[in-house]
Amino acid sequence: MKTLLVFFACYLVGSISGAYILSRAFFHKDIRDEGSGNAGTTNAVRVMGKKLGYTTFAIDVLKGVVAMALLAPMLDESIRLFAALFVVLGHDFPFYLGFRGGKGIATTFGSYTTLQPLWGGVAAIAGVIAAKVTKYVSVGSLTFLSLSSAAMLIKYGSIGYNRWAILAVWLMGFIRHKDNLIRLKEGRENKIGG
Ligand code: G3P
Repeated sequence: MKTLLVFFACYLVGSISGAYILSRAFFHKDIRDEGSGNAGTTNAVRVMGKKLGYTTFAIDVLKGVVAMALLAPMLDESIRLFAALFVVLGHDFPFYLGFRGGKGIATTFGSYTTLQPLWGGVAAIAGVIAAKVTKYVSVGSLTFLSLSSAAMLIKYGSIGYNRWAILAVWLMGFIRHKDNLIRLKEGRENKIGG
């Protein structure tokens, strides 16, 4: 029972959508009707500018930090990484927004960096470099996601069931980037500053 409550609490924390709340509060619009339609940092910067975009990022990162620092310790070690999965599920599929949220990258960053600051940081730097070189944020996001997931698998994959949560976060991130991947293939993906 306690485990389910912690999962649910992680989901609820994740479902606080920074991009949606800020777009409603400051633009009287739904971010999901603007730009790429994604309720995340990249689209928040695109639609609302840097200040609110970076505030979106801070809120979404903080959700991962809260889940891993405050809620995950209440779980058995063998399933601790499921806190990351549930907070990202909340971010990607918020119940009060018809389950249409973001893509989970900033929240994954917050979660994994709380657990492993060095490896989360290294993966994030690699992601930023990949985004700068290619000029596609989505390439940077998926680079970060893959590298940080690999690091988490190395660190926690052999402990209990954690590998399944790590793999699910990774897979869900790619599924949520399906449209970006199609646009990349067709040469239609939004470029940074484009
Ligand atoms: O993490 C989201 C980013 O990779 C892409 O965002 O709005 O361009 O679909 P967006």
